[in-house]
Amino acid sequence: MQRYRIAVIAGDGIGREVIPAGKAVLEAAVAGSAELVWTDLPWGSDYYRETGAMMPADGIETLKGFDAIYLGAVGDPPHIPDHVTLWGLMLPIRKALDMHVNVRPIRLLPGITGPLRDKGPADIDMIFVRENTEGEYAGVGGRIHVGTPYEVALQTAVFSRFNVERVVRYAFELARTRRRHLTSVTKSNAQQYSMVFWDEVVAAVAADYPDVEVQSLLVDAAAALMVRAPERFDVVVASNLFADILTDLGGALMGSLGLAPSANLTADPALPSLFEPIHGSAPDIAGRGVANPLGAIWAGAMMLEHLGEADAAARVMRAIEATTAEGTTLTPDLGGTASTDQVAERVIAHLSAS
Ligand code: NAI
Ligand code: MG
Repeated sequence: MQRYRIAVIAGDGIGREVIPAGKAVLEAAVAGSAELVWTDLPWGSDYYRETGAMMPADGIETLKGFDAIYLGAVGDPPHIPDHVTLWGLMLPIRKALDMHVNVRPIRLLPGITGPLRDKGPADIDMIFVRENTEGEYAGVGGRIHVGTPYEVALQTAVFSRFNVERVVRYAFELARTRRRHLTSVTKSNAQQYSMVFWDEVVAAVAADYPDVEVQSLLVDAAAALMVRAPERFDVVVASNLFADILTDLGGALMGSLGLAPSANLTADPALPSLFEPIHGSAPDIAGRGVANPLGAIWAGAMMLEHLGEADAAARVMRAIEATTAEGTTLTPDLGGTASTDQVAERVIAHLSAS
């Protein structure tokens, strides 16, 4: 029987509620065919309070020993500043393990009433490929004359040909497995260096994919079009910041941010990729057991697929869809009254029935 070693960083807030729910579903999905060996890593804000760091100094080395990483969320506002929690764990992991793309499906699930009148599951089915290691989140910059009236802050976006090209190529390959339509999101009118460069890379890579139709949109127009005509999107490739923002909009189009999953895929197959819901630690609802676990469960399905357990992954997806289609066991963000665990149990019940 195949064994997979999975590092678990449940993290903070509702991360600690949705990840156990996800683990239970994944266990049920592979029962009898594969073994998931979980290692819980107690990293995050409590670890920071005890040690002054979000993870140990050798944390990255530790992660390299696993087949995959399953993460909830980190962040403990207002107690610890968000840039400390994010730069102490998530962003260094993405960079150090070369997780060049962040893949984020945005899909209206059956039975869910999204906020867009007249738009159903056939209209909202797109997948974002987010540049994940540089761009606006490269971490290049600094502050001088701190605290003075003439203080200056610089945050420089970084776009390298090597990286943009591989991210764009990934998006074209993905488009070939879907409706062969790619939207590239930029802001080339205002950002005449980085985004014009991005457009040039897209045009160059497009020459290798004559079968994929390319649409280029400015990010503000893309935001409006996602609301007005979401059916015009299939695969979307965008910079780190733009895709971060547009996928929260996408989560809203899905009916809840709690439904949206993501995969941080490493470019080096010897390194583990990381799977997480796109939402954060949601301190406003944490500790009450009402967080929606479906985004975390879906992220788990993406992890199973990545590990080579395509069958189990597809069964998890069908069980998620059966749960939303049925509509009796949903968390409050979707208008229901069920708890996190009840939703997970319902998904497991559908798994067993399939
Ligand atoms: P958030 O995603 O945690 O919450 C935004 C809103 O969506 C809240 O009203 C929340 O209750 C709701 N929500 C989110 N997930 C939900 C779920 N599964 N079920 C039901 N409702 C859900 O974003 P926010 O409040 O801006 O950030 C909170 C903290 O999370 C911050 O520290 C932020 O930096 C961190 N964060 C961490 C991420 C990560 O670890 N990858 C990603 C995004 C934010
Ligand atoms: Mg985000």
